[in-house]
Amino acid sequence: MNISVFGLGHLGSVNLGCLARNGHNVTGVDVSETKIDQVNSGISPINEKDIDNLIREERNKGRVSATKDYSKAILDTEISVIAVGTFSGNTGHPDMENIFRLAQTFGRILRGKNDFHVMAIRSDVVPGTSMKFSEIIEEYSGKKRNLDFAVVSNPHFLRKGTAVNDYYYPPVTLIGSDHREAAEKVASLYRNFPAEVIITDARVAELMKYVNNTFHALKVSFANEIGNICAAMQIDSHKVMEIFCADKELNISPYYLKPGFAFGGPGLSKELKGLQAMAQDHHVKTPLIEAIEKANESQISRAVGMVQQTKKKKVGILGLSFKPGTNSLRNSPSVALIETLLGKGYEIAIYDKNIQPGGKGYSHKAYIEKHLPHFTKLMRSQVSDLMNDSELIIVNNKEKEYTDVLINVEIEHPIIDMVRLPDTIRQKKNYQGINW
Ligand SMILES: NC(=O)c1ccc[n+]([C@@H]2O[C@H](COP(=O)([O-])OP(=O)(O)OC[C@H]3O[C@@H](n4cnc5c(N)ncnc54)[C@H](O)[C@@H]3O)[C@@H](O)[C@H]2O)c1
Repeated sequence: MNISVFGLGHLGSVNLGCLARNGHNVTGVDVSETKIDQVNSGISPINEKDIDNLIREERNKGRVSATKDYSKAILDTEISVIAVGTFSGNTGHPDMENIFRLAQTFGRILRGKNDFHVMAIRSDVVPGTSMKFSEIIEEYSGKKRNLDFAVVSNPHFLRKGTAVNDYYYPPVTLIGSDHREAAEKVASLYRNFPAEVIITDARVAELMKYVNNTFHALKVSFANEIGNICAAMQIDSHKVMEIFCADKELNISPYYLKPGFAFGGPGLSKELKGLQAMAQDHHVKTPLIEAIEKANESQISRAVGMVQQTKKKKVGILGLSFKPGTNSLRNSPSVALIETLLGKGYEIAIYDKNIQPGGKGYSHKAYIEKHLPHFTKLMRSQVSDLMNDSELIIVNNKEKEYTDVLINVEIEHPIIDMVRLPDTIRQKKNYQGINW
């Protein structure tokens, strides 16, 4: 395929060399004459392992060249890879001006192109950028998005120093697009890579670099704080983190990584508080670990805010335990939510299939009675009682009885969902998810 790559910095040069190595004819475009001359002389514009040979060999084979002629690069190729620099402004807000100026150029040139053109944005961009890029092209070209051209988000997860290897072994191949053929055309560039190909909504794909890199930063700081505590206690931090990483069930796994409600109860909090106390005893600063509790409290405040916005005063809690099929109230964050709502004067009614009327048969009695002194009076014996006694429903677990009622019974109550109920319930007009 004939492909153009816009921007010959780190990202662009790696794409230029690797696409050519995979058999494509690749034209690089940059505002820098020096970089263009370098590529045309078979010299890599960047310092990166393995890239020098790649560009020299592919230049010798005639599969790599560079130009400042944007028209030729766009008119003579089927796919343009966008790899220009994007910046952060003073406030940290990502600045997309450079990308949008480039979209104007694409628009002007595409006005004179009859063939369908695909642009794959590999630069780091904020959600909505590919759509805005398309709108600018439509404005400047008079052409129609997804009819005459398509803009696809195709984030790149490479690291300096291992960029060529990362190109061939990405963690996933991610494509954000609502144009199937364009997405598949871009995916075909990576056909022989071992990574899973994920085609998704463009805004989801565009957010992923921010989410991934924030998580990577979080991992580093978490490991460092654990290391600092270990060092102060003369415990081998590397041994600790090695064992931590050996747990692929709960630690290095998708577990605990679904957006939803707060964690609660004495379970997680006990060790969290305990670790902070040990750190303090050893005068070790742990700002990240200390922030966890605040983050959790703010998730409870978020739920309280959602209740307040409905202007309803009678709140029904469907499911008090945090998991279907259990009467364990340990870890039930709804206890903290109910306590806050009671404090603000809300009337509360609770139905939990696994906790008997009168409040018998649940675990952690002392904990509940401390936080919800009139707990038994709040309990209802049937869902219908709960519905009659409330104007708003908070759903706290996915017990089948609750989802059946919410699917099959026509209810006017606003529903606040903490657990991501099935799609049929999420479609209801009076429905809100805690963070989706
Ligand atoms: N460096 C990395 O490891 C890496 C990894 C993944 C993603 N990214 C993202 O890729 C993008 C580029 O990063 P980089 O490190 O290659 O940046 P860079 O600054 O090294 O290179 C950007 C290049 O784009 C050129 N350029 C700018 N505007 C242009 C235009 N209108 N037309 C043609 N060329 C233009 C510049 O002259 C420069 O050569 C950024 O969004 C970055 O966040 C970088």
